[in-house]
Amino acid sequence: MDALIDRADVVAAAPNGAIAPDAAIADRPVVLAIADLHLTLTSAAGSVQVLRGISLEVAAGEKVAVIGPSGSGKSSLLAVAAGLEPASSGRVRLLGRELAGLSESALAQTRRGRVGIIFQDFHLLPNLTALGNVAAAVDLAGEKSGKAARHRAEEALRRVGLGARMDHYPTQLSGGERQRVAVARAAAIQPAILFADEPTGNLDSASGAIVEDLLFDLADEQGMALVLITHDARLAKRCDRVIRLRDGVRVDEAGEY
Ligand SMILES: Nc1ncnc2c1ncn2[C@@H]1O[C@H](COP(=O)(O)OP(=O)(O)O)[C@@H](O)[C@H]1O
Ligand SMILES: [Mg+2]
Repeated sequence: MDALIDRADVVAAAPNGAIAPDAAIADRPVVLAIADLHLTLTSAAGSVQVLRGISLEVAAGEKVAVIGPSGSGKSSLLAVAAGLEPASSGRVRLLGRELAGLSESALAQTRRGRVGIIFQDFHLLPNLTALGNVAAAVDLAGEKSGKAARHRAEEALRRVGLGARMDHYPTQLSGGERQRVAVARAAAIQPAILFADEPTGNLDSASGAIVEDLLFDLADEQGMALVLITHDARLAKRCDRVIRLRDGVRVDEAGEY
């Protein structure tokens, strides 16, 4: 935690007063600041206002759940917040960097080694083993390469209980094991912020519980901020704060939660 706060890039993300953070987190640097975010997507069927004026701040080390019915814009919010999708209007500041107008390479540089993303459907590379998937991510993060990356990846896989599955390919793993590889891959780079989109949504309850505990333990150990999209009210309650979306609008602030 201290190491995280000492990082100049995170300190540079201190709130500029645009949105008042929760009192409990007011003394911590802000790792994600979203203000009046709009996202309009156009398909053959016409254009859809997916996000309509969302504002949100996440402090270093804070765990925020994002809940809401299917189609309410949760995954879209994650995509824009993580710089995977450009906003139509509004502001997104991730780890001190305004995302608007950044090139793909500048976005990748902003994310590299500092932003972890866990998708519901794992997104593992099928031609790499569990170890290969995690080591490639560590390598890409630019912190370590070759042997050092493998070593870090092995540690991460052992941490998620997959020490005996390192050389298995994704097709040789169960859903719960694959998701644990995805958790190891995201956590191995020790990001300042971790986004997870319904990480237990495709898992049976036993596997889901393991992945869930891992995420919270890792967030605590590493001082990561966690933005957790979930349908699970119990999981949401384990977070410091709950953001609720409906039809692309935040409704928790209006006391509807
Ligand atoms: N590429 C797209 N073009 C048009 N509409 C889209 C596109 N992607 C998602 N949407 C719409 O945006 C809304 C929010 O989707 P999503 O963010 O995936 O919701 P959630 O994750 O909460 O289920 C849905 O109504 C969905 O149909
Ligand atoms: Mg979704």
